[in-house]
Parts: sequence; C-alpha cells; structure tokens
Amino acid sequence: MLRLRLPTVSLLLGPLLGPLLAGPAHGLHVSQRTFAIDYSQDSFLKDGQRFRYVSGSIHYHRIPSFYWKDRLLKMRMAGLNAIQMYVPWNFHEPLPGQYQFSDDHDVGHFIKLAQELGLLVILRPGPYICAEWDMGGLPAWLLEKESIVLRSSDPDYLAAVDKWLGVLLPKMKPLLYQNGGPIIAVQVENEYGSYFACDYDYLRFLQKLFRHHLGDDVVLFTTDGWSEAFLKCGALQGLYATVDFGPGVNITAAFLNQRSVEPRGPLVNSEFYTGWLDHWGQPHSTVSTQAVASSLYNILALGANVNLYMFIGGTNFAYWNGANTPYAAQPTSYDYDAPLSEAGDLTEKYFAVRNVIRKFEQVPEGPIPPSTPKFAYGRVALTQLKTVEEALNILSPSGPVKSLYPLTFVKVKQVPQGILERNNVTTLNISGEAGATLDLLVENMGRVNYGRFNNDFKVGYAHQGQVWINGFNLGRYWPARGPQKTLFVPKHILTVSGPNTITVLELERAPCSGAGRELCAVELVDQPVIGASVTYTHFPVKPPRQTPWPHHG
Ligand SMILES: *[C@@H]1O[C@H](CO)[C@@H](O)[C@H](O)[C@H]1NC(C)=O
Ligand SMILES: *[C@@H]1O[C@H](CO)[C@@H](O)[C@H](O)[C@H]1NC(C)=O
Ligand SMILES: *[C@@H]1O[C@H](CO)[C@@H](O)[C@H](O)[C@H]1NC(C)=O
Repeated sequence: MLRLRLPTVSLLLGPLLGPLLAGPAHGLHVSQRTFAIDYSQDSFLKDGQRFRYVSGSIHYHRIPSFYWKDRLLKMRMAGLNAIQMYVPWNFHEPLPGQYQFSDDHDVGHFIKLAQELGLLVILRPGPYICAEWDMGGLPAWLLEKESIVLRSSDPDYLAAVDKWLGVLLPKMKPLLYQNGGPIIAVQVENEYGSYFACDYDYLRFLQKLFRHHLGDDVVLFTTDGWSEAFLKCGALQGLYATVDFGPGVNITAAFLNQRSVEPRGPLVNSEFYTGWLDHWGQPHSTVSTQAVASSLYNILALGANVNLYMFIGGTNFAYWNGANTPYAAQPTSYDYDAPLSEAGDLTEKYFAVRNVIRKFEQVPEGPIPPSTPKFAYGRVALTQLKTVEEALNILSPSGPVKSLYPLTFVKVKQVPQGILERNNVTTLNISGEAGATLDLLVENMGRVNYGRFNNDFKVGYAHQGQVWINGFNLGRYWPARGPQKTLFVPKHILTVSGPNTITVLELERAPCSGAGRELCAVELVDQPVIGASVTYTHFPVKPPRQTPWPHHG
C-alpha cells in the first residue's frame, strides 16, 4: 500500500517577517555597492570591508513557491548570510525556445525574496548543474542531435547554450550585488574537472559569455572536488577556483589543494555536505549531526567561506529526479538528511549548525518559524479508472474492447513478456509467431546527471508509478524497493472548497482489479518514511562520509 504524508494547517508566517525586511540594499547607493576578491588579504571584500559568507544550498525548483519565504526565513534565522542556488536549464526551457519563468519557475522572484529576508545569493546557472536533477539540468531535447557532445565545444551544444544564457543572464544582471541586488558571485559550469572532456575552450567560451552578459565586475568562480585530479580540468585562469568536501575530509589537505590553484584569495568550500543523496534500492543516507557540527566548526575557525550543501533538500516532484552510473535512479525525496527536512521542518541538525555559526557570526534573535503541523487523514480508497493498455487503444486493432471494468493484458489477449531494467535485467527471451508486433512501454526513470554517460537517451522499465493530487504530480513511488515509502504532500495543493482528487498511475501491478480490489488505497500519514529497509542493492553502497566518491551536488 502506498502511504502519503499530508501537512494541513500551516502557520501564517507573514507577521514574523517584519524585523528582517531590511534588505542589504538599504543605506548604500548602488554605485557604492561592490563585491570583490582581495588577494592581498585572502578574503572577499564587500563594500570595501572584509567579508566571509556562511551560506546554505536551497533549490527553488524542489520547493513549491508557496513555501519559499518560510524556508528562506528559517535559513536566515539559522545565522546564514547567504544562499547558494542552481538554475536548471531544463526546468525553464522544456522545449527549444519555450521558456517558463512564472509561478514555481519564477527564479527572479525567489532571488528577490532572499534579498528581502537579508540573504545574499551565490548563483550557479550551469548550464550543467548535476544536482541529482534530470540529466544534470541539461534539456533532453539537446539529444535530438544524437552525436552531440554535451559540456564541450560541440557547435550545436554551444549554440543552444549561447541562446539559453542569452535569455537567463540578462534577467540576472539587475540582481547582481553591484546593481542593487543580492547576487555576490556566479559559478561557471559545475565540477567540470570530474567530466571526461576536459575542454578548456568550452570553459573559455562560457567565461566570455558570462562576462558579456554580466559585466567585468562580478566575481566568477568554479567548484570542483577537492583532490588535485579534479582541479586539473575544472579550474581556468580568470575564474576563481573553489573546492567542495564534506565532514570526515582532512580540511587542511583540502584547502592546500585549493591553494595549489589559488595561492592567494579566500578559502572556499562551495559544497560542505550536511547529508547525502539516496538511490532506489539502496539504504537511506545519513550523516551524523556531530560530524557536521565539528567539521563546520573547524572550517569556520580557519576563517574559510562555506556553503552547506544542502541546507534544505526538498522534493523531486514529477519526473525531475536524476540518476547515477552504474545506473541507479534517485528517489522522489531529496531530503538529504539536511538541517531542514524535506517538509521544511527544524531538525536537531538545524539547531546544532546554528549553535556553531553563532560562535563566529551574528545570528538573528527572535522567533524561528516553527515546523508546520502534519495531519494523518487516514486511508483513502481508490477507484480504478483505466489500465495503461486500455488507454492506449491502438493496441486493439479490431476496435475498442468494451467492459464494465478495465481488462488485464490477458483478457485482451496481450501477453506481457516481461520487464527489462537497466543495470538489472537487460535480456528477455520472447516467444511469438513470425510477423507478430512487439510493443514496448518505456518508462523514463530519470536521466543520468553525473559523469561520462550524461547523454542519456532513455532508460529502463520499472515496476512502480506516479501520484497526483488535484493535478499536482507528487513524484514517483516505489515502496516495494525502498528506501522511500511515503511521498511529501504540500499543503497548498489541497483544497477545502471541494473534493480533492488523488490519481495514481501504477505501472506494474495494480491490486485493484478482481478479487484484490479492496487492497487499492492510499494512506495519508503524518510521519515521513524515507529510510525504510530496501529490498535490492545492485552496486556497492559507499558510506556517505567518504566524500571523494564524486556522485554528488
Ligand atoms: C591533514 O593534512 C595535512 C596536510 O596534508 C597533514 O599535515 C596532516 O597530518 C593531516 N592530518 C591528519 C589527521 O591526517
Ligand atoms: C531486478 O530487480 C528486482 C527488484 O525489483 C529483483 O527482485 C531482481 O532480483 C533483480 N534482478 C536481477 C537479475 O538482479
Ligand atoms: C534465452 O534463451 C537462451 C537459449 O535457450 C538461453 O541460453 C538464455 O539463457 C535465455 N536467456 C534468458 C534471459 O532467459
């Protein structure tokens, strides 16, 4: 049985926002606002003063805009003075030339909200972002040219990048710090040193393009794994090189490697891992609060700049999850064991991190917005509407087959031959008559977001499905495999003015037909289950603390 988690009454946060509304723009004329690197003092300089950021990652594309203010305010109240954020290209340009920048896609609004709440912004516009996001943020339509070499000087790739950044970056320009906005630094590409191509011309192309659209004043930087091997192809003169590493890594050694590329300038850990990602069929990843707190303390004690990846993970709604190679898809929850939970709740890790930060930086006093209440509505019986096969009535050449209840494969003389799954079952023996037609139902389980095999045309078949409430796609479920057993239901998609509709698309075996009909239900619960035991592990699981394993961020 699929179980859903459902928050109901959420507190109104508006009245709490008052004291924080003074954004960083106040008091300074635009012309006096500067943000730069001071190589002589190994520091950033903000308005001419030494400045250190303590930032947290948040992905607006994993959080409904309804919750943006609540999550950002909780980040500010933790003592962060900045947020770090990606911009996923495929989220904004689903089809070539068709752009989405409103509602949950309104990235400009998100950045302005951060500023209103007193947070600076470190922008990571890609074009590749990794992020455990479908195809690392690159639109799948790029693959219409089958031989395209992504993240390289391939002319078709560059033409598409040029066009996209020509749309995005002009929108970002007025939001730069020196132009009155909150954006203090902009990252070029993402962990490029981990990619096989090592194409410096591509990085130089991006550098020129970013400068062209954003101007000469903005701090441009790169981020790579902390070992020298990653920095080799990831760093480029003119882009400030930063590193990423999590708890358990030797901080001195990691920053020494940054120093091998940047002998002077601020120390920066662009991704300090507060937790780790999950895969279907592998145990839920956690990182201990103690490890995060003590390592964060040591980083801050060195005077380094740090971004906590993630501060809040959020949710891979709809079809947005990515996958790693050897093929392993990421589940719907991107909780990440972060200081704020997937549902935006305050955790023990949140308070531990806040206590560390307050030893070094001023942390705002005053009430922290509380976790939102959850409500267990209980069991909801489902009525079966159609089988997938029935919906595809082309499968019935002699016209539709009529029946009171939807029919199974067997009843319409369609015999399922089996299920293929990438990296698991890749061959299938099929018996049939010569001239018979073989139909394939293909499910995209999430395109690879990391590594050489980022050209991900299509992936395997699964046993599993998706759930919608009132038309909002909550994402994929696969409780039989784990570790995630529940889906997060944001409050704002529910209505009190009429009935709410839950739609379930079961791709493997709906228990609703025939004798088992009564088993077909969803349960609305008030506790998430994202760390249940798993039934399947198909490649060795690396403990999350071994950060050099680079399938991250
Ligand atoms: C950490 O790295 C530094 C620099 O390489 C080294 O001197 C030190 O011994 C290392 N510390 C530990 C605990 O391994
Ligand atoms: C493929 O995955 C299923 C779980 O969904 C598992 O039962 C099966 O053993 C796997 N097959 C192989 C060949 O590993
Ligand atoms: C398919 O049939 C061949 C020949 O009988 C056999 O060797 C092979 O193991 C079968 N493969 C599967 C996946 O059943």
